[in-house]
Amino acid sequence: MRGFSGIPSSKAIHGNGVNVDFRNFIRIIAFYLFFFSTRRPWRKIVVMVEGVYSMEGTIVRLPEIIALKKKYGAYLYLDEAHSVGAMGPNGRGVVDYFGLDPGDIDIMMGTFTKSFGSAGGYIAGSRRLVRYLRSKSQAFTYPTSVSPPVAMQIVAAMRQIMGKEGRGLERIQRLADNSRYFR
Ligand SMILES: Cc1ncc(COP(=O)(O)O)c(C=O)c1O
Repeated sequence: MRGFSGIPSSKAIHGNGVNVDFRNFIRIIAFYLFFFSTRRPWRKIVVMVEGVYSMEGTIVRLPEIIALKKKYGAYLYLDEAHSVGAMGPNGRGVVDYFGLDPGDIDIMMGTFTKSFGSAGGYIAGSRRLVRYLRSKSQAFTYPTSVSPPVAMQIVAAMRQIMGKEGRGLERIQRLADNSRYFR
């Protein structure tokens, strides 16, 4: 749950990095809803998951999570730090891996440090969300913009991942083969 440091300082009630076994997913959500009951109907529930969990290489069961979020009217935040540029036939992460609609993810986040070998990261979502973050997020307002070499490295890696140049897609395939071998 690194990277979610803004949550404790927000007014949101949060599970603070609980590791939820999928089988207990509903039970744990129900527990939190009960435990933190405000006696008022919940307006927003945000489920936060990672595409690939780095310690075991576990891949999130995204199709089921999306079905659940639709069923319960929750929002979904997907951290693709370990999956973008590493998973899926087009290297676009777990959404690509499962052939899902990115529109079903409310907030998609990734870093440019890992697969991209650069610095910084991104948040993707609806136009409304991006506009909101641009105007309200401290991380957007105060820091200096990325430097040209950093941006260039991101663009170059992205072009490789997209198969537009170099051997990016071949490398992603080799990564999958090596991961299977070492497991
Ligand atoms: C799950 C997850 N999300 C986000 C990040 C942030 O990555 P960085 O600080 O390299 O941009 C990390 C870093 O290890 C991570 O493990």
